[in-house]
Amino acid sequence: MRAHDASWTARWVAWMRALAAHLPDDERLAIDPFAADLTWPGAARVAARPRLASALVRFTPLRYNVLSLQLRTRAIDDAVRAFVARGGRQIVILGAGFDARATRLGLDDARFFEIDHPATQAAKRARVGASPARFVAWDFERDALDRLPAALAVEGHETNTPTLTIWEGVTMYLSREALDASARAIRAYSAPGSDLVFNYFDEARVRSPRRMGGEQLVVSLMGEPFRSGFAPDALGGWLRERGFELVRDRSYAELARELLPRRRHGGHADRRLALATVLAA
Ligand SMILES: C[S@@+](CC[C@H](N)C(=O)[O-])C[C@H]1O[C@@H](n2cnc3c(N)ncnc32)[C@H](O)[C@@H]1O
Repeated sequence: MRAHDASWTARWVAWMRALAAHLPDDERLAIDPFAADLTWPGAARVAARPRLASALVRFTPLRYNVLSLQLRTRAIDDAVRAFVARGGRQIVILGAGFDARATRLGLDDARFFEIDHPATQAAKRARVGASPARFVAWDFERDALDRLPAALAVEGHETNTPTLTIWEGVTMYLSREALDASARAIRAYSAPGSDLVFNYFDEARVRSPRRMGGEQLVVSLMGEPFRSGFAPDALGGWLRERGFELVRDRSYAELARELLPRRRHGGHADRRLALATVLAA
C-alpha cells in the first residue's frame, strides 16, 4: 500500500459496511453504525441517502460486494463471540483498518489490540477519538514481525493468556514473506487456547486475470493490488508448519447457505474464511 496514505481498501470496506444498513432485513448480518463516519466523506454522503443507498445495494454490482462483506464480517463476529463466551479476553486485529469491533460488539470484558499500517492507523485514530482499543502501528512488509509480540506486550498484551487474532481482508494484499512472518508472529504471541480467524482468496483466483476481472484493476488503482492467496487443499499444511491446526475452512458460498438461507448469494466459491487454533508447542 502507499506509504503515506491511509488504505483506500479499508475506506472502501467501511463504505460497504455503511451501505449494508440499507439491505433488506433478512440480509443484514452485521450492522456497523460507525462505518459511515470512518469511510471517506463522499461515500458517507451516499450512505446517508436512503433511497440511493437502497438502490445501490439492491440493483447494482455493489450488491455482491456488500453481501460478501456482510458474510465475512458476521462469520468473524460469531468467532469473536464464541471465543469470548468460552472465556477469551484478548483480541488482536491485524490490519484493523476501519474495523469498529472494539466498540461495536460491546464486549467490555475483552481487550482489543489493533495493529495496522502507520498511515491507516493514524487516520483512524484521528477519526475515532476515544477508543477502548490499544494501538500498535506496524508495516507488515517493512517492520520486523518478530518484534511484534514485544510491541504488543508494551500495550498490555499477555502471551500466557489466550488471544483471538482477526486477520480480516488482509492476506490478499501481502507478499508471501509477510504472510509467513505474520503467521509466525501470531504464533509467538498466542498462548495455548488461542485462535486465528482470517479470510483469503483461493490462489487460483489471484493468478487468473480472467477471474480477478476488473477487481484487480480497482485495487491496483487504490495502490493495493492483490498479491497472494492460498490453495485450500494446502492451507492446513501451511498452517501446521507455523504452529496452527486448521479447524474450519469455508467458501463464501457455504457461508451464504448458512447465513442467508432464504436469499442465496450464489457466488464467491473462491473466497474463503478459515479458523485455526494454536497447536501446543
Ligand atoms: C481491505 S483493508 C481491511 C481492513 C479491516 N481489516 C476490515 O476488514 O475492515 C486492508 C488493511 O490491511 C492493511 N495493510 C495492507 N498492507 C499493509 C502493510 N504492509 N502493513 C500493515 N497493514 C497493511 C491496510 O492498512 C488496511 O487496513
